[in-house]
Amino acid sequence: MSENLLALCYLISSVCFVMALRGLSSPKTSRMGNLYGQAGMTLAVGATLANPSVTSFGWIIPALVAGAGVGLFIAKRIVMTALPQLVAAFHSLVGLAAVCVALAAFALPEAFGIGTVGNVHTGSLVEMCLGVIVGSITFSGSVIAFAKLQGIMGGKPIRLPFHHGLNALLFAGLVIFGTLFVMGQSQELFLIVIALSLILGVTLIIPIGGADMPVIVSMLNSYSGWAAAGIGFTLENNLLIITGALVGASGAILSYIMCKGMNRSLWNVVFGGLGGDAGATSGDKGQAEARPPAKVGSAEDAAFLLSNATSVIIVPGYGMAVAQAQHALREMSDALKEKGIRVRYAIHPVAGRMPGHMNVLLAEANVPYDDVFELEDINNDFATTDVAFVIGANDVTNPVAKSDPTSPIYGMPVLDVERARTTLFIKRSMASGYAGVDNELFYRDATMMLFGDAKKMCEHIIKALA
Ligand code: TAP
Repeated sequence: MSENLLALCYLISSVCFVMALRGLSSPKTSRMGNLYGQAGMTLAVGATLANPSVTSFGWIIPALVAGAGVGLFIAKRIVMTALPQLVAAFHSLVGLAAVCVALAAFALPEAFGIGTVGNVHTGSLVEMCLGVIVGSITFSGSVIAFAKLQGIMGGKPIRLPFHHGLNALLFAGLVIFGTLFVMGQSQELFLIVIALSLILGVTLIIPIGGADMPVIVSMLNSYSGWAAAGIGFTLENNLLIITGALVGASGAILSYIMCKGMNRSLWNVVFGGLGGDAGATSGDKGQAEARPPAKVGSAEDAAFLLSNATSVIIVPGYGMAVAQAQHALREMSDALKEKGIRVRYAIHPVAGRMPGHMNVLLAEANVPYDDVFELEDINNDFATTDVAFVIGANDVTNPVAKSDPTSPIYGMPVLDVERARTTLFIKRSMASGYAGVDNELFYRDATMMLFGDAKKMCEHIIKALA
């Protein structure tokens, strides 16, 4: 394959990736976006393999087969609720790849056309140094994010003494040792830079509390894109640079949007330590015991309240995804609509465990897009609604986010379900949600708890409505 043809293939792949991002921005076009992404990646891999500079397939083929096999196995087995930790794990691999490529380039600069051992071009040294810093931070940070999301590590923020000072010290160390490395090309300094970056990745992510993990996952997504762009510079591969920059920029934009949605500062995300002190929340379990007993109802009670309503707002959350209740929920809302009741869905930006989680599930169940509203478009309507039907959601409705500055979710906008005449909560117990904060709404007079699996409860309500 000639250089020109290769460049053309890479250009077409880049356009496909841009189209993929555009398509994925709306549930209506997301399937098409996915197809563009797959086509772009197939062309990119095919063109790279056909490049005359690839002289041996001895390592490439087994690596491709192993990677594709593992990817296929994971894709078939992964449950949707575990996607965030899978994404975090994949980000860690991108970071690791960036570090490995930089190490290889440093050990064998001739093979990369960037000079000879001990005499590497200064520009390439700077690229390498930046690549390993971003790659190592992405790697260790993503491993911590994975451990937190998978429940291997507790979700509570871990703050070391002088945490911000320590981060500043590590950052200063990176600048000093990085500069010395570029000047002296010493292997020991290169390894010190990697070690400091790995530690910084850990110290940046451990103070992040459970409820703030979505922002961190999208930020690490952005870091992994920049790490990939770094590999692109080292390998002089334009497609990797473009793709890395696309992922880096889109991840940064997503982080910004999520920060806005959760009322967090982007600055704090980048430098670690987002929310408040999770250890001392006024809404924690200790206080729950002093509360009055919650009102518990049955599917029949819920059906009675719903069929006497004129308007209902459904608030889906993580529990709906766990129970895969979206189809039963849509059937229930169809039954209500047949009775002339206005039914709408309110989506919180971080409901579930990944951006757009609820939108995807509702789209899968063929819920009309026109019935689905974002938080800011529907929040005021709770005050004029008869029933707020909360299905497997918890943190995204917790009013402590508005009232208690010591709460880890303080400042996050929440859906004002308590303003509806009646609030129904479907969940299996009084347990708290992801952020580990008790929800005092469960104990209010206008709230009725419907205990059970979300799907089964919806099915029972449908029967009772009939
Ligand atoms: P959560 O606050 O986690 O609450 C979900 C509730 O669902 C739980 O309280 C649980 O109560 C209930 N539940 C679980 N399985 C159920 C089932 N089979 N049937 C019925 N209920 C079930 O969820 P949320 O309100 O959607 O808020 C999302 C949280 O996750 C936020 O804190 C957010 O920051 C965090 N987070 C979000 C993301 C993204 S990007 N969306 C990523 C990572 C973390 P029971 O155990 O009592 O049933």
